[in-house]
Amino acid sequence: MQNLPDGTLYYPDFLDGPAQELLLKSIRDVVSEAPLFVPRMPKTGKPMSVRMTNCGPLGWVTDKENGYRYQAHHPQTGKVWPDIPKQLLDIWQELSTYSHPPEACLVNYYEVDAKMGLHQDRDEQEFDAPVLSISLGDSALFRIGSENRGGKTTSFKLNSGDVMLLSGKSRLAFHGVSRIYPGTSMLLKQEGRINLTLRRVTKAS
Ligand code: SIN
Ligand code: FE2
Repeated sequence: MQNLPDGTLYYPDFLDGPAQELLLKSIRDVVSEAPLFVPRMPKTGKPMSVRMTNCGPLGWVTDKENGYRYQAHHPQTGKVWPDIPKQLLDIWQELSTYSHPPEACLVNYYEVDAKMGLHQDRDEQEFDAPVLSISLGDSALFRIGSENRGGKTTSFKLNSGDVMLLSGKSRLAFHGVSRIYPGTSMLLKQEGRINLTLRRVTKAS
């Protein structure tokens, strides 16, 4: 792989077809219990183009009034988030090198015209744990730079079944999704992409 930033660990095709199918089924169950919602930017209330939900003891949410945060319940149903599927906990254990389980799994759904602007994942208290990202469905062009906004960035494609970790020097790197490539995967019964990010939120005592 061409010059990935230090700490960006890329595992192409980490999940084979059957593992992707199994994971997708669990994620569909999560979404039926905790429906996708439209996240809104702090202060402006502008909608993001992805739709999201979570599983785990904590979930990442954002809205106009209260901004970016983690909370234990779904913003619309008020229910606690569904459990993180065992398959995801196992992947975390295998790849994360962090000795405690993740607390949040953010599920992002991208329609073909959705994008995500460059940002840092910094709403967690624990930066020693990596962010572990899994891609399902259509491919995406992923962009990553350094901890400094406006620094040089590298772009590469993330395909269905790929796993990536932002760890060490890349844990606070700016990253985003520039575009989705429709029709590049047959996994979802529709066009679009699902990205899962597993995170440790609190410091383990
Ligand atoms: C994110 O940064 O939350 C999502 C990244 C991705 O969709 O690959
Ligand atoms: Fe992110």
